[in-house]
Amino acid sequence: MGNVVETIMNIEFFPFEQFPMAALLEIESACHPFPWTEAVLSGCQGQGYDFVVAAIKGKPIGYYITHRVLDEATLMNICVHPNHQGKGYGGQLLQNALERLKRHSITHCFLEVRASNKGAGALYQKLGFLLIDKRKGYYRTNGEREDALVMSLQLQ
Ligand SMILES: CC(C)(COP(=O)(O)OP(=O)(O)OC[C@H]1O[C@@H](n2cnc3c(N)ncnc32)[C@H](O)[C@@H]1OP(=O)(O)O)[C@@H](O)C(=O)NCCC(=O)NCCS
Repeated sequence: MGNVVETIMNIEFFPFEQFPMAALLEIESACHPFPWTEAVLSGCQGQGYDFVVAAIKGKPIGYYITHRVLDEATLMNICVHPNHQGKGYGGQLLQNALERLKRHSITHCFLEVRASNKGAGALYQKLGFLLIDKRKGYYRTNGEREDALVMSLQLQ
């Protein structure tokens, strides 16, 4: 498979175009309670976007999407297939995302996370993100709406 962006441990990072959208949608729906549609995922390309997929032996296991505007960026999505969670891959993905942002001279990265998503929140905290705000009722749930925690990391 061509166009490897980077290799870290046993994961290789590829541009998302290397994989069929169906394989990425499968990861998306396994990871998120309200997964993005194909149209939303496919829309994350072009100016300012990094949509990078992590693969082991050519098989995609997760991805991240960042979007840059001027010197700021947002982490739009990050996920690791449940079969591969808890093995350090999420941390590797996020570090890769942040390194690429630094190379683009991005000064701050922002993200939103469900208040109930303790695992992702712990990952972001571990890599230095700080809680800066809360958006009331931002996310859909099966019952009442859920708050988003807004976090940011200064990169340089
Ligand atoms: C969040 C996610 C990407 C983490 O990926 P992962 O490969 O499981 O994470 P890692 O194994 O690299 O863990 C890195 C750190 O994150 C934290 N963490 C990850 N999952 C955790 C959990 N379930 N509970 C507590 N801490 C957790 C820990 O600090 C961990 O470091 P440690 O192992 O030294 O304690 C993954 O769980 C996922 O895809 N979740 C579903 C999608 C999602 O919620 N995305 C974020 C939306 S904002």
